[in-house]
Amino acid sequence: MTTAPPTDHASLIRALDLPAKVALLTGATSFTLAPEDRIGLRELRLSDGPTGVRGLKFHGGRVVALFPNATLLASTWSEDSAYEVGRLLAEEAMAQEIHVVLGPTINLHRTPLGGRLFEAYSEDPLLTGRIAAAYVRGMQDNGVAACLKHLVANESETDRNTVDSVVDETTLREVYLLPFEIAVQDAEAWSIMAAYNNVNGVAATEQDYVNNGIVKGEWGYRGLIMSDWFATKTVAPAANGGLDLVMPGPGGPWGEALVAAVRAGEVDEKVVDDHLARLLLLAERTGALGAPRSYGTYPAPDSPERREQLTRLAAQGITVLKNDDDALPLTSAQTVALIGRHAVQTIDMGGGSAQVNPPYQVSVAEGLTARLGDRVTVVDGVDVRIRPVPARGGFLVDPETGEAGIRTILYDADGTVLESRHCANSATMVGMDDDFTGTVARAVLRGRITGSGTVELGAMGVGDWRVAVGAQSVEFGLAVTGNGFGEEVLTPPLRTDVYQVREGDELEATVRLGGAAEVFAGVGLFGLIGHPASRETVDVIDEAVRAAAAADVAVVVVGLTEEQETEAVDKSTLHLPGAQDALVEAVAGAARRTVVVVNAATPVVMPWLPRVDAVLWAGLPGQEGGHAVAATLLGDIEPAGRLVTTFPAEDEKSPAWSVKPVDGKLVYAEGPYLGYRGHYADRAPEPAFWLGHGLGYGRWEYAGTRLTADAPATVTTTVTNVGTRTSREVVQVYFAPAESDQPVRLAGWAAVTVAPGESAQVTVPADERMWRRWDARSGSWARLSPGGELLVARGLGDIRARLPLG
Ligand code: BGC
Repeated sequence: MTTAPPTDHASLIRALDLPAKVALLTGATSFTLAPEDRIGLRELRLSDGPTGVRGLKFHGGRVVALFPNATLLASTWSEDSAYEVGRLLAEEAMAQEIHVVLGPTINLHRTPLGGRLFEAYSEDPLLTGRIAAAYVRGMQDNGVAACLKHLVANESETDRNTVDSVVDETTLREVYLLPFEIAVQDAEAWSIMAAYNNVNGVAATEQDYVNNGIVKGEWGYRGLIMSDWFATKTVAPAANGGLDLVMPGPGGPWGEALVAAVRAGEVDEKVVDDHLARLLLLAERTGALGAPRSYGTYPAPDSPERREQLTRLAAQGITVLKNDDDALPLTSAQTVALIGRHAVQTIDMGGGSAQVNPPYQVSVAEGLTARLGDRVTVVDGVDVRIRPVPARGGFLVDPETGEAGIRTILYDADGTVLESRHCANSATMVGMDDDFTGTVARAVLRGRITGSGTVELGAMGVGDWRVAVGAQSVEFGLAVTGNGFGEEVLTPPLRTDVYQVREGDELEATVRLGGAAEVFAGVGLFGLIGHPASRETVDVIDEAVRAAAAADVAVVVVGLTEEQETEAVDKSTLHLPGAQDALVEAVAGAARRTVVVVNAATPVVMPWLPRVDAVLWAGLPGQEGGHAVAATLLGDIEPAGRLVTTFPAEDEKSPAWSVKPVDGKLVYAEGPYLGYRGHYADRAPEPAFWLGHGLGYGRWEYAGTRLTADAPATVTTTVTNVGTRTSREVVQVYFAPAESDQPVRLAGWAAVTVAPGESAQVTVPADERMWRRWDARSGSWARLSPGGELLVARGLGDIRARLPLG
């Protein structure tokens, strides 16, 4: 779809008085903007992204498709796949008449501890920018706006509302702003989100230098900059600092205070008009202003089309890290012991605002059993979480309807029932969902237990609780954690107890909100907890070892959960949680062959690496995860992914590590030497795996590698697949500048699919932007001096050719 040239909205703006204009510059609700009949502006609807279009509710909203997470998408190194994801997300948005999807997240993987890296593409700015630009085009070509987030220097979560990211200007320009610049220049993203943090002492929402100077000034950006949710702290500094829209609403610092600031001469009315002009342009581009757009019908989240698309997209990004003696793909004759908590409860998404409510989530156990039937023996693994999670997978059913989930009944202060609702797919609800029909004073959450024996049951959320199971009951109060908005939703206070139950027993929890009613109506998350009680680790490992010894091959699925990979909280280690390493070691000691599948988006340390035969990196694969993993294990789809971030060999052995601000400041002291750039410059030891590493199921020889053009530098090479299976090769070109203060950097890549025994010529044009350096003294871009070399590599641990530049 091509968009008509935007119209001049000056006359529409003139038709409104100052209060009416300002009223439009703060959201009307959590995820909508107010309509204004006088100028034909309709309600504009926003939804998180980036791996599904959740809709207007934060939690428990409509059922939508869950896509593979951002790192898994980027691992395809395919702009076609990114474009396709953007297009499909636009369909998911149009099905809900959503105008703006809050994604892609294009912050970088600076330190592997960042809790939110699963939502962002890579440690490399060029890869991030190009994948993002393709995703944005796919979305916007269908009339749905993308939103680049979070501008800028928002690479970790610790103290995220207050932290000051200290980044020298050269690094800011050459590294952290580059993905935004690429997505603005190459795809003209229609909106951008300003981050929570400060950048060099100034709040991102007040960054006149970045927002007005660079983005709107130097880049000529015509789109809209909105705040991250609740990030705006001021009136005049934010309005003058290039922030166009405060989110969410209806409260917030602007409103009457901004009207007063204009009247007091602190903010020029022209500034308000410019913000509104950008909002109107966004509305016009997305069909909320001018001719109304028509919507069609789109594939349902559980339709055959989505199932095929989501399986294929996830499988393409899955990455082979190790594959000794062709342990993979599995053959159809082998018997398999499939082991691990992540095999039975596969983690398909990270935590926080990127979560969606999918129609189903296929576990690896379901996916592999569907293909191999009784040749698979499934064995649950060791515990992987510290915090209990809401009941899942039908452990509780609604006593009224018998459906998986719970029944929640809301009462007002007089004891009148406000609402009785079924909460499906999850035993939780969030106060932030703004569709309550009154002030809730008491809520009763009920679920019938489908298991029996020793179980752990409880409740989560702020309030005074009474939890009853059969004849037993406990009463307790849960207080506000005081950790701030995100944390109240992500990690609410909870309590659990162990009970003996019979199938069909009912769990009923009553919460009195009292003084905490505002929290309920505001942001808190409430839910029922229920799952079988933990078993002794040694018993679990014994069972796994017996199954492994009895099968031809053991497949152990390990990984992280949303305790590690989440918004609002960073990691403290790259080691797998619980006794997962011990489980892998024990299985590897007993099995004929051991394949490890890692179900995580970001680096983990693998102490057992030398003792296993193969490692498959599965990311957070979305609702079709189990089918995608099965397809790659069996070779139905090649796991042709290449890593998008470098895996340190051990904790702390990366160029940037700590995410803890010191005196409120997080100093990006490594400058541009993050990830592979720093490892290559010996600022950190040899990593376990380099960005760009990935074996696929082919085997490659390179020949005749040469420079075929100078500006932009273009490399041509011939790759031959000397393996036995058709495979996709990603030819990567890195540039090592002559300047000693400039790190090596990815400069371009191209991919080709080749049958066994065949060759193909591949041409890789390098991106000219990788030859720039920011000259802080003159405040302008300069071109790097001639010389240096190009490295043609399969990740910098496997360099196939070096081409000196003249
Ligand atoms: C996140 C944003 C998200 C917003 C709305 C914030 O907490 O940082 O990425 O789009 O919430 O849910």
